[in-house]
Amino acid sequence: MQPVVTEIIYKLQTARAKTKLKPGYWVTVEEANLLYSWALEFHPDCIFESGTAFGYSAMWFSLVGCPVFTFDPIPQKKYVWDELGYEQPDNITLVHDRFSSIVTMNKNVPGKRFFFIDGSHTMNGVKEDYLSLKQYAKDGDMVVFHDLDCKGPLVWWKKLQSNASVYETYETAHVIGRLIWRS
Ligand SMILES: C[S@@+](CC[C@H](N)C(=O)[O-])C[C@H]1O[C@@H](n2cnc3c(N)ncnc32)[C@H](O)[C@@H]1O
Repeated sequence: MQPVVTEIIYKLQTARAKTKLKPGYWVTVEEANLLYSWALEFHPDCIFESGTAFGYSAMWFSLVGCPVFTFDPIPQKKYVWDELGYEQPDNITLVHDRFSSIVTMNKNVPGKRFFFIDGSHTMNGVKEDYLSLKQYAKDGDMVVFHDLDCKGPLVWWKKLQSNASVYETYETAHVIGRLIWRS
């Protein structure tokens, strides 16, 4: 039997207390709830994430129900679903490569996309994600940046604002921003 969403959410919310995986590497529970509710409300056809780490935010995104492609050049031995006693969710594809490899994927698939940028936090690393978004995002897509309290993400987020019809930032344990893409 498939586990129900509320059971997974409960386990994800309490995961930090139980897991041996490095907790500093994950979005917080409050941020995960925010990201999940934004993605649910936006109703994307596909979610793309830069920065899988242990798959915590990816597992939240999997609950939205659409395909989730999550990029990270560093594969892990264990992901959060292993720790919580689940199989890897069927709709998650782990791409063991940098987010910039997204530009080799077909851009002309119909539908809305949701991008979550939480990979490298260096100036050059975020620049690479920014340039990939400029090449790959389409009008009407949603782009979310984590850690806007860090210099690298903040500098490139500000540049992205010229490609936005709507943008907002939220203070959480860090700062999260979301925008609707406009070319
Ligand atoms: C802060 S962690 C991601 C946390 C994850 N989003 C979560 O909340 O569960 C950042 C991850 O980005 C990865 N990373 C670094 N450079 C990257 C790149 N160019 N593309 C994708 N991921 C990258 C790192 O290996 C690291 O695992």
